[in-house]
Order: sequence, then C-alpha cells, then structure tokens
Amino acid sequence: MEKRANFGSKLGIILASAGSAVGLGNVWRFPTEVGENGGAAFILIYILCVILLGVPLMVSEFVIGRHTHKNTADAYQQLAPHTPWVFQGYLGVFTSWFILCYYSVVAGWTLKYLFSAIVGKVGTIEDSAAYFTAFTSSPWLPIVCMVAVMLMCHWVIARGVQAGIEKYSKLMMPLLLLIIAVLVVCSFSMPGSEEGLRFLFKPDFSKLDSSVVLSAMGQAFFSLSIAMGCLCTYASYFRDDAKLVKTAGSVAVIDTTVAIMSGFIIFPAVFSVAEVAPDAGPGLVFITLPNVFQIAFGHVPFIGWLFAVMFYLLLLLAALTSMMSIHEPTTAFLLEHFHLHRRTATWMVTLSCIFIGVLCSLSFGPLADVKFLFGMTFFDFFDFVSAKIFLPVGGIIISLFVGWKLDRQLVYDEVTNHGTVGFRAFPVYRFILRWLAPIAISLIFLNELGIL
Ligand code: PHE
Repeated sequence: MEKRANFGSKLGIILASAGSAVGLGNVWRFPTEVGENGGAAFILIYILCVILLGVPLMVSEFVIGRHTHKNTADAYQQLAPHTPWVFQGYLGVFTSWFILCYYSVVAGWTLKYLFSAIVGKVGTIEDSAAYFTAFTSSPWLPIVCMVAVMLMCHWVIARGVQAGIEKYSKLMMPLLLLIIAVLVVCSFSMPGSEEGLRFLFKPDFSKLDSSVVLSAMGQAFFSLSIAMGCLCTYASYFRDDAKLVKTAGSVAVIDTTVAIMSGFIIFPAVFSVAEVAPDAGPGLVFITLPNVFQIAFGHVPFIGWLFAVMFYLLLLLAALTSMMSIHEPTTAFLLEHFHLHRRTATWMVTLSCIFIGVLCSLSFGPLADVKFLFGMTFFDFFDFVSAKIFLPVGGIIISLFVGWKLDRQLVYDEVTNHGTVGFRAFPVYRFILRWLAPIAISLIFLNELGIL
C-alpha cells in the first residue's frame, strides 16, 4: 500500500491549521462585529466562546482525523461503520466544497483590489461604493479574478501535503503575520487614531443580549474553521506525536490575535479620517478602506500606497491559506475513496468549484435577478446554506459523536497521546462535548433560522 502523506513538522501543523483559521472572517468580519456589538464586551464573550466551545470542538475534529488517518468521510465510516454517524463525514466533505464555491469569489475581489492598489488606483477612486458595485456587477473581471485565485490554490493542493500545503503555509503565514505587525504600527501612527481604539474597545455592556452572544459563537466557529471537514482532514496528516490540545490552543491564540490586530489596523485608520463612516460587512474593506487610503494618499502618498498594497496582500494571503484548507477535504476524499491520482482529484474539485463560482460571481451582476430557493441569489444561497445550516448542524453532530458515541478510552488516548501528555481537564472537555456544546450550538442554529 502507498504510504499516506503527513505533515513533516510541528511548526507545519500549526501554521497550516492557523492558515485555515485565519481568513477573511478575521480581517473584515470580526472588526465589524466588534464595532456593532458593544466593543470590548463582545471581545470578552468571543474569547469565552473560543475557549469554552471552539477549542474543545477543534480538539474533537483533531481526534477523529488523527486517530483514523483518513479523509473525513472514510474516517466516520471507520469509527462508526454502517451507522447514521457516517452522514457527518459526507456532510463535512460536502460543506467544504460548498464553501469553496463562494469563498473563492470574495477571494477574487481581494486579488483585483491588490492589483488596483499596486498600480495606485485604490488611492484615486472618486466614489469607492460605485467602484465596488461596478466591479462586482461586471460580468468578466470578477470571474477572471476568481479563476485566478482558484488556480493559485489548485497549484498548491496539486503538490500534495508536504510539498504543497505545508510548504506554502510556512511561507505565507509568517509573511501574513509580519504584514499585520507593520500595519498595526502604521495605523497607530495616524493622527486621531485613538478615537478608533475607543470605538473598538469601549465596553458597552448595554448592547449585550442573547443575539450578541449568539453572534459571538457563530463568529468563533466560522473563524476557527470548525465543522467544515477542514481541521479533521488536516489532522489526518498529523503525526502520532503531535499534541492535539496544545495545537488547538496555539491555533486559537493565533486566530484570535489576528482578529484583534485586524481591529487595531482598521478602526484607528478609519477614525483618523473623520469624514469616513465605518460600513458593515464586505463594504468595510472594499468601500470604506479605499476612502481611507485615498485620504492617506493625499497627505503622505507613499505611505498611503504602501498601506493599501500591504493590506490587500494580507487579505489575499489570508483568503488563500483558508481556501487551501477548504479544497483539501474534497480532494482527499476523491483521491482516497475512489483511488484517483491527486492531480485528477484536484482538477475535479477546482473545475467544479469554478463552475459554481461563476454562477455565484454572476449573481452580483447579470444573474442578480435569478433567485434560488427562499428568494436568494446563488451567492447568498451558498453562503446561507453552508455557514448558517451545515456549520451548526455539523458542530452539534461532532460534539455528540465524540462526547457520546466514541469510546471514552479512545478519545482519552488520542488527546493524551496514550497517556504521555497530561490533560487534567479531560472530564471538563467531555462535559462540554456532551452537554454544553450541543445545547449552545442548537441555540445559535435556532436563532439563525429566526425560530428563537
Ligand atoms: N476560518 C476562515 C475565516 O475566518 C474561513 C473558513 C471557513 C476556512 C471554513 C475554512 C473552512 O475566514
């Protein structure tokens, strides 16, 4: 039998997993949510969600992947053969494929903005909202950009685990962290930046209600890439001496630090430019920030240019490392389940996602009026179904599976590397999986659906 691929080093494991976690969710979604939901109060709840729910679930996915050393679908089949639990394995694979179809569209936008920044266009846009709409609704350019980032991701995945994912994560993640550090310093040095920090970190406990807590949980899961088959697939390439709890802890720390640093970058910069009001969602990075860069260009042109180029490079790197982790679960499944060549499996995933990605991209322009189920465009449909339905359902099933179905000793052996690594909080971990996580995630789910 051919030897299965694995990650070559502990650093590779951490950087690849952190690459999956650190993505567009950290750079634009987190700062916006913080701003809207009570500043420091939200950050506090978010960190609690990461520690109490995010890390235990991440460890559980690691347990499933590392124990079986199989792709997500076959892993569940091995652990619970011919039971309904196998459904979750297929759901994980399917969810990641689903996400890639629309995530690549937004990743394509970051590529276009990076180019615009490099040629100095970002700093001279007259009306950045109109510019953004004109770009996303045009038929060709967004598709070309989406295909370009998909091919970059394809190029890495086709090279395999060590020579592809690990090598490029080790290259891209340090660069990403370096850019963040430089941008934080740049942003702080802008005049009036304290106002932004106040906006971001003023704890407004009056805004805290159940929906804020639920948003924090949802954001924590999306940001940590939980329940998408990604972490489970990466863990199947972990070596037997990798420490699962420590790895999950490191990934959570990196992911949360990047999210908070993104807030440090964006808000002081936005507030140093008095006439720009912060926008929500994708508007923040694609509409509000170009205005900031433009004004920075006016004062100190070179710094403004550099800030813009580094910022969009940061977004592109963050998106690419996440895309790699979303591509791999389906590729690994096709490769192992149907005994295909890696090259063939990679092409199948890339081409199918490009095909759906074209529809998602066109839903901002020529297909804007084509409504799918529930009156959603293609893009909205793919986003809604994966992030709002598959993610919570997957999270509930994973916690129940590891908490109730898997043998206690098997889980213990896996998290402690057969008793060689201490883990005194094991009973707490199991309690969380059995009770806290399923109940908490069910609440998010019902809330997202508007039932609660
Ligand atoms: N965690 C990534 C982010 O914050 C997104 C992602 C979702 C990556 C699902 C992999 C799987 O943007």
